[in-house]
Amino acid sequence: MSSKKSTSADPAEATYKPDKKFAKKARISSLSEYQELYQESIRKPQKFWAKEAKELQWRKPWSKTLKWDPPFAEWFTGGELNVCENCVDRHAEGPRKNKAAIIWEGEPGDKRVITYAQLKREVSKFANVLEKNGIEAGDRVLIYMPMVPEAAIAMLACARIGAVHNVVFGGFAADAILDRLEDSGAVAVITADGGWRRGKVIPLKPTVDDALQRFSKVRRVIVLNRCGNDISMQEGRDVWWADEMENVSAQHTAKGFDSEHPLFILYTSGSTGKPKGILHTSGGYLTGTYATCKYIFDMRDDDVYWCTADVGWITGHSYIVYGPLANGVTQVMYEGAPNFPDFGRFWQMIEEYGVTIFYTAPTAIRAFIKAGDAFPAKYDLSSLRLLGSVGEPINPEAWLWYHEHIGGGKCPIVDTWWQTETGAIMISPLPGATPCKPGTATLPFFGIDAAVLDDAGNECKPNEDGRLVIRQPWPSMTRTLYKDKARFKKVYWSDYPGFYTAGDGARRDKKGNFWIIGRLDDVLNVSGHRLGTAEIESALVAHHAVAEAAVVGRPDDLKGQAVAAFVTLKTGYEESPELVVELRNHVAHVIGAIAKPDDVYCTAALPKTRSGKIMRRLLKELVSTGKISGNITTLEDSEVITSLQKKITGGS
Ligand code: WT7
Repeated sequence: MSSKKSTSADPAEATYKPDKKFAKKARISSLSEYQELYQESIRKPQKFWAKEAKELQWRKPWSKTLKWDPPFAEWFTGGELNVCENCVDRHAEGPRKNKAAIIWEGEPGDKRVITYAQLKREVSKFANVLEKNGIEAGDRVLIYMPMVPEAAIAMLACARIGAVHNVVFGGFAADAILDRLEDSGAVAVITADGGWRRGKVIPLKPTVDDALQRFSKVRRVIVLNRCGNDISMQEGRDVWWADEMENVSAQHTAKGFDSEHPLFILYTSGSTGKPKGILHTSGGYLTGTYATCKYIFDMRDDDVYWCTADVGWITGHSYIVYGPLANGVTQVMYEGAPNFPDFGRFWQMIEEYGVTIFYTAPTAIRAFIKAGDAFPAKYDLSSLRLLGSVGEPINPEAWLWYHEHIGGGKCPIVDTWWQTETGAIMISPLPGATPCKPGTATLPFFGIDAAVLDDAGNECKPNEDGRLVIRQPWPSMTRTLYKDKARFKKVYWSDYPGFYTAGDGARRDKKGNFWIIGRLDDVLNVSGHRLGTAEIESALVAHHAVAEAAVVGRPDDLKGQAVAAFVTLKTGYEESPELVVELRNHVAHVIGAIAKPDDVYCTAALPKTRSGKIMRRLLKELVSTGKISGNITTLEDSEVITSLQKKITGGS
């Protein structure tokens, strides 16, 4: 029962039609059914979304589906719900009571299964802990945790009491935590002593302590004992998770919050040095994540779903915590690295738990390809029925390997395009309906009016490159940048009035499939993570030896993009291999290991225009191709390029 391939000699060019058996059982079973419903959903988006929202549990019905005052949207105005109740209580009180909600594995091999009823007890207890510690609705709470069930429990407990969580990825450094504490005005932090990664303990609490030395508004730090590593606790401020949980009730009465009550802030990189606080609210966000899980991942009661993201990213928020739990599915959660103890870890877990739906990133797939086919071949992966990909365009080689070696040639692959800002998947195949082709995220989800426009605002012709936009509001869209409406307007809504600009270049083929080309701004996509070049530059310039810095991306086989940095040194400093190492570590120390430059080039000067602007475009071309093809007449000093070229290509 292989998914049907059209007759093209080149597998990368072939079209992969949904398997008939899959299609028959799927919610949407054919391309024509999708097209019909899609057209209807674009004509009447509010009708489509209201129908989906009605499948959630509301404390008070909404009076207006959408209030649209571009670019500010309100969905399900007047409605009240409790997001946590929808993800937990709703299942814990029905036939799913003793169903596994989370099957968790720690990196060292420890295992836990948490049923929906148990999840309700844990979340209720932790909600009581938060309240006992004076945390109230609207307060901001920073969460800095490893991938343990308590991370999800903390998020859900915040949602339950109406506190706004801001999860910070555990790989970020103290300065990144500090920025987020300051911008969000957090009053509490939830963290752990550490987490396991590649057989080692990564300490977390000491990093929080470092940030808190420079920020005094946090009243309470709740610390989970995960690894038993040595940490210090500040009397009067820091308390242990387990101690707090001991003396609280397992009953917590949830109340309803306004549909537009803020649910969380998640920071993401933009083209300036300051990360953007993406704000998501309750009713619309939950509707979007719920509906996309249902249609795109085809979630069913007997599924075992596994998304390998970290809760520190939007994928973890929408497709580990809120979407899957709102659907009452059983999911696998894993703490550590994909290659610990070896590259068979994921496949061994898929076999052990009988995972049916698996969602990961192209960068991981490329690392698996490199590790060799023998790893997946050792395990029985026949439980899988659907695969997903997210984070960057999936190259045909990775797509084909995923399809064959993981999906056994029979599983549809949903290549899902979306962003932190969009909250939920926007463009993706529907697994029982959409013919797939390696490299394209195919067609927009219901209610999503996506288009590719040229500079003048006209729709591009087939195969013509342009800018990806969304022309109508959708429920899970970010409402604003936290405390910065002006920047929100400017970044996303000023290219084409009334339309959301994603910041991605794209083209559509004759069949209407969307091919995402990549970011159009100064943002890199390194292993599916968004990194602002400006942030890395300001980290470099903060080093005492650096006068000026320019950061660009260059293609990388594994990571998609690698970070290349160019620096000029202050007088008195000389280029040396030690300094290069120091600068790389410095960036890791300021932002986090993910931002560590792969290459650092010291140069006498940076290429600039006559008006003094750094020409990153040239640097990018240089690191990508080793030469400059275009016009450099606007350069102030063309010698700069010649000497850099020698340096990069190693020529003399
Ligand atoms: C950017 C958003 C949303 C989850 C993870 C990243 C790129 C994401 C795809 C895809 C091509 C993709 C885009 C987008 N991107 N998914 N399937 N195909 N590109 O979230 O950090 O907000 O980054 O990731 O460039 O703008 P994010």
